[in-house]
Amino acid sequence: MHTILERYQKTFAKDRELAHAANQLFPDGVTHDSRYMSPFPVYITRADGAKKWGLEDKTFIDYWAGHGALLLGHNPPEVVEAVTVQLHHGTHYGACHPLELEWGTLVTQLIPSAERVRFVSSGTEATLMAIRLARTYTGRNKVLKFAGHFHGWHDSLILGAYPPFEIAVPGIPQEVRDTTLICPPNDIDAVETLLKTDKDIACVILEPTGASFGVVPTDGTFLQQLRELTQKYGVLLIFDEVITGFRVAPGGAQAHYNVTPDMTTLAKILAGGLPGGALVGKKEILELISMQAEQRGLKMPHPGTFNANPLSASAGIAMLNIVKTGEPHKQAHRIAQQLRDELNSVIDAYRLDWAVYGEFSGIKLLIGHGEKEARAADFNPYAWDYRKLKGGNNAQLLTPLRCGLLLNGVDLASNGGMTTSAHTEADIAQTVQAFEQTIDWMKAEGLIAN
Ligand SMILES: Cc1ncc(COP(=O)(O)O)c(C=O)c1O
Repeated sequence: MHTILERYQKTFAKDRELAHAANQLFPDGVTHDSRYMSPFPVYITRADGAKKWGLEDKTFIDYWAGHGALLLGHNPPEVVEAVTVQLHHGTHYGACHPLELEWGTLVTQLIPSAERVRFVSSGTEATLMAIRLARTYTGRNKVLKFAGHFHGWHDSLILGAYPPFEIAVPGIPQEVRDTTLICPPNDIDAVETLLKTDKDIACVILEPTGASFGVVPTDGTFLQQLRELTQKYGVLLIFDEVITGFRVAPGGAQAHYNVTPDMTTLAKILAGGLPGGALVGKKEILELISMQAEQRGLKMPHPGTFNANPLSASAGIAMLNIVKTGEPHKQAHRIAQQLRDELNSVIDAYRLDWAVYGEFSGIKLLIGHGEKEARAADFNPYAWDYRKLKGGNNAQLLTPLRCGLLLNGVDLASNGGMTTSAHTEADIAQTVQAFEQTIDWMKAEGLIAN
């Protein structure tokens, strides 16, 4: 009998060769932290719908959804058509162009808080811009964020994003660390205590459905309370909707929960699978990047070579025109619920201390939580401490689980993934089968108890 890792090494021998070469080029052999995997990653050469293909044409059902950028699956025809046409018309004019107006108009039609729009190139840029503008607008220095919430990798907001949440991130000066206040998630009393005592807080920023798209979920009541408190203390509220924008609902989490922040950051689906982001929000705040603000000494400088580039604009327009129907969300959410339910049935049948949870199109895995009697089907993440949810997986089980799923044609990251409107019942059936097969292998290897 071969172990899962032995099978993986053998089946993906060609990928191992590429990974070896990549290790001579890139730190860890990868180009994004979350693409790192042990013993080595698989290499993908093409994708379509809910699937992607690797070396020797190996097929995988894809739950990465382009790190969340692909609500419609890979290569939706409308987006392909729009980008193909645009490619022949030019990728960068170094000038204003009509498509940016069309794109921006769609954003303002869909996102309730969007009185004004500024396009950027990524989610990281959008959140960086949001807090700089919040500081400019309020004249205060500090940012309040929540442990586990991810807003990109720049100095102020990468702090507290990963477990253990208190440790310093190397390379970030103490002066910057002193301006980022990290609150436990969903703790409205802790927020009020900080807002009451510290008069240098410019803004509160959060992922509105919770850390990492709901690994530690947050509900509408908390959002409403935050809205009231920030208004009471004169502090700006920023929703980071880089993932949730256009995914949770056409108008993002703010439309779903009917809570309107002062500013919102967007990326991923916004640009239809191409690079792009935006900061949107109240006119009087966004106006601080205008030339008029210079007269008051308040202008925030904001260039950016690829802001609203025509290629991303064409993809974004095609995508948002489909998003606005609300149809893709229904399918992506329905299929995610079905997958969560069916995976939990497997977990309960095997009596494992694992759970699959999530909301909307999110699939979150908690592997080895230690509560042997808890039924996966009844798992309620709102009742759990955030440290157990984010970073609480049994690390020893994650690699064999991931490798076993890949061997069975499923690319679901160890901590979960997302569905798209391209996922079908057949994909779900195959994923559940892959999950069962992997658990059987793990049991046979003695990795989990019989
Ligand atoms: C909620 C959230 N904010 C910000 C970012 C950063 O976006 P980008 O990777 O485009 O810089 C991400 C990326 O995953 C995200 O999920």
